[in-house]
Amino acid sequence: MDNDALWAALPVPAIVISFDDRIQEVNSAGELFLNASVKSLLGKPVLDRLHIDANMDGALERVRKNQAPMFINNVDVGAGHAPPVECNIQIAPVSRDSGDVLILMHPRNLAVRLGKSLGVKSAARSAIGMAEMLAHEIKNPLAGITGPAQLLSMSLEADDLELTDLIVAESRRIVALLEQVEQFGNLRPPERKVVNIHDLLDRAQKSAEVGFGARMRICEEYDPSLPPTYVDPDQLMQVFLNLLKNASEAAGDEGGNIRIRTFYDHALRLRKPDGSGTGLPLQVEICDDGPGLPPEIAGQIFEPFVSGRENGTGLGLALVSKIISDHDGWVSVDSVPGKTLFRISLPVAPKDKE
Ligand SMILES: Nc1ncnc2c1ncn2[C@@H]1O[C@H](COP(=O)(O)OP(=O)(O)OP(=O)(O)O)[C@@H](O)[C@H]1O
Ligand SMILES: [Mg+2]
Repeated sequence: MDNDALWAALPVPAIVISFDDRIQEVNSAGELFLNASVKSLLGKPVLDRLHIDANMDGALERVRKNQAPMFINNVDVGAGHAPPVECNIQIAPVSRDSGDVLILMHPRNLAVRLGKSLGVKSAARSAIGMAEMLAHEIKNPLAGITGPAQLLSMSLEADDLELTDLIVAESRRIVALLEQVEQFGNLRPPERKVVNIHDLLDRAQKSAEVGFGARMRICEEYDPSLPPTYVDPDQLMQVFLNLLKNASEAAGDEGGNIRIRTFYDHALRLRKPDGSGTGLPLQVEICDDGPGLPPEIAGQIFEPFVSGRENGTGLGLALVSKIISDHDGWVSVDSVPGKTLFRISLPVAPKDKE
């Protein structure tokens, strides 16, 4: 294989700098990261283009002196006007004579999230298998409780009726929850069709606006040139509704703003444990200006039964994660108070299906 192809294929932002720390080469992932073309970058002092929150001068000096690679983990790296991203940086000497040095930057969120969404799949599977069994087992005795409670209520005074009503109402709530769990376990494999994602988003938006999202202002920012995707429309609809619903619930009674954005990003690929990879260029972002994820559950929101809400079952995002994994896609979240952004990345429809 020739080196140029290898260099271009490297999915991690990579830069080679010369002895005076000027950019000599940038691969395509690096161009994206720096948001600039190779042409405009060549010869520029690297530290003018990359704002790295670490003693880079010291690090580069050591790498050149020791002729040994060096790793700097968890540093914020800013490029251009984009907000800084937490990266693991690897610096390696290329040649002792010229003083050339290779810098690789692994945005950390990418690694963490990719790992997570695949992990969730199997964790969710086992938790759900068990929940499904329990759901089934609990439904029968529950019917055994509500029936007698209703009979009892016929011979009770008005004051005590309140109590039997409570038994019946709470039991119904449990049954509804169990049915949700069962439905979750029974999710069929996706029936894929070629779909324009904007049609689904429009439908989800309309249904949000007349229901749970009536207090929200929803704006859309669609890339009209987005190619079609190949998904199960009903399941994807469920995904968008769950995300819109969560955003609406987080906003509370005052309401808030939701922005739905779509765009194309050809740099994203999902690598599966078996080594195969899919491009995931279609991006859908659902962003709200609510309070953000509760910090105590922020790391586990895609797992089943994790909820930050009273009466929440915690299945909404587990379902999102499961459906998106079944579609070989990727879901990620970034949340700070005032800005919570869920991003769904999907493959484009294969040519022969269009
Ligand atoms: N946009 C958001 N803003 C703030 N918090 C959120 C947002 N989306 C999700 N969350 C938090 O993540 C938790 C898990 O969400 P998930 O949809 O999985 O469950 P749920 O909404 O609690 O219950 P369910 O969707 O099953 O009714 C929520 O309870 C909430 O605390
Ligand atoms: Mg939810």
